Amino acid sequence: MTFDSLPMAPADPILGLTEAFNKDPNPNKINLSVGVYKDAEGKTPVFRAVKRAEEQILQRETSKDYMPIQGSPAYAERVQTLVLGVNHPAVVERRVATAHTPGGTGALRVAADFIKQMLPGRTVWLSDPTWPNHPNVFKAAGLPVQIYPYFDAAANALDFEAMTAKLRTLPEGDVVVLHGCCHNPTGIDPTPEQWQIIGDIMTERNLLPLIDFAYQGLGDGLEEDAAGVRSLCRPGRDVLICSSFSKNFGLYNERVGALTVVAANEQGVQAALSQIKACIRANYSNPPAHGAAIITTVLGDPELRAEWEAEVAAMRERINGMRALFVDTLRAKGVQRDFSFLKRQRGMFSFSGLTKEQVETLRRKYAIYILASGRINVAGMTEHNVGALCDAIAEVLCS
Ligand SMILES: Cc1ncc(COP(=O)(O)O)c(C=O)c1O
Repeated sequence: MTFDSLPMAPADPILGLTEAFNKDPNPNKINLSVGVYKDAEGKTPVFRAVKRAEEQILQRETSKDYMPIQGSPAYAERVQTLVLGVNHPAVVERRVATAHTPGGTGALRVAADFIKQMLPGRTVWLSDPTWPNHPNVFKAAGLPVQIYPYFDAAANALDFEAMTAKLRTLPEGDVVVLHGCCHNPTGIDPTPEQWQIIGDIMTERNLLPLIDFAYQGLGDGLEEDAAGVRSLCRPGRDVLICSSFSKNFGLYNERVGALTVVAANEQGVQAALSQIKACIRANYSNPPAHGAAIITTVLGDPELRAEWEAEVAAMRERINGMRALFVDTLRAKGVQRDFSFLKRQRGMFSFSGLTKEQVETLRRKYAIYILASGRINVAGMTEHNVGALCDAIAEVLCS
């Protein structure tokens, strides 16, 4: 057999659409499909704080020696403070370890390998819906994957009752994947009170939370967005946290993320870290240095940190501003359907409620690219394109 007899793999539903967008000759095309932040000019620029950190790194770097398997201790410490806050009891009690991974996807895959190898028999539960790559990552590691209810399409809100009713039935020890904030694709997060209840169920049922934390700072603020994650890190509980810094540092192609283990005790964290290092060694051996060096530098320098925080705040305000502008423009153009739920949701994504057929018409007739599920990236909207976008949506809703 030679490779020409192999079947073609289907294109990735998100990245495949971007390929089609890039080939589209229409000068007024609009891409609301991919999960990348765009500024008011439709660009994805390098953060100023990142550029300044890179200048420092260029000056001081003297070697390209390998990184430790789990990355640098300084990076681990800064990530833990960002995710868990200053002096979190788990950090003080030395119950936390962080491995630097290639992106948030790398963190998820290392976590999946760790679960598969060390916690046999566990099923991974994903929200319905979730980021389309979640099932791929966990299945690739050989784990069984199931879904729990999350989205109430009629109300465009969290179906908390159905969600918690299902979580209460899960077998002891199973893994529950939760989005730390800015749920992808719905933009709907639990309230602080709901996070408490989720935490109670995790404890009562002895479930293992795996928190995917890819958008810290893009919802309500760096601290506010971490409230759910922190509320699950309770005494005596094990938690896995997968951070991505692709969005909130704009470091997409540097591939920088982190897997943080919060364990019930110091013995647990040391054992888990040793196994996580074994998973990493057998996968990519050790992480790429540059992205983590940038984050360590920015978070360790008060001036750069303040500049970065201001840049994240500007992103967040632009996203929330575009949500409001989109809803108001649709209304001004006479669209009767109520899209006001978009203003209540957070992060780059929301479900628009557009059907597969409407999405298809938008692409064919207007070169507007939206995922078949109706998920839109609000950050793909600008003050320049929102008028044309709303005209097109008004037309497809009427036809
Ligand atoms: C929910 C979620 N998790 C993880 C990731 C992966 O991030 P990274 O690009 O850092 O691998 C993404 C990226 O879109 C995401 O939306």
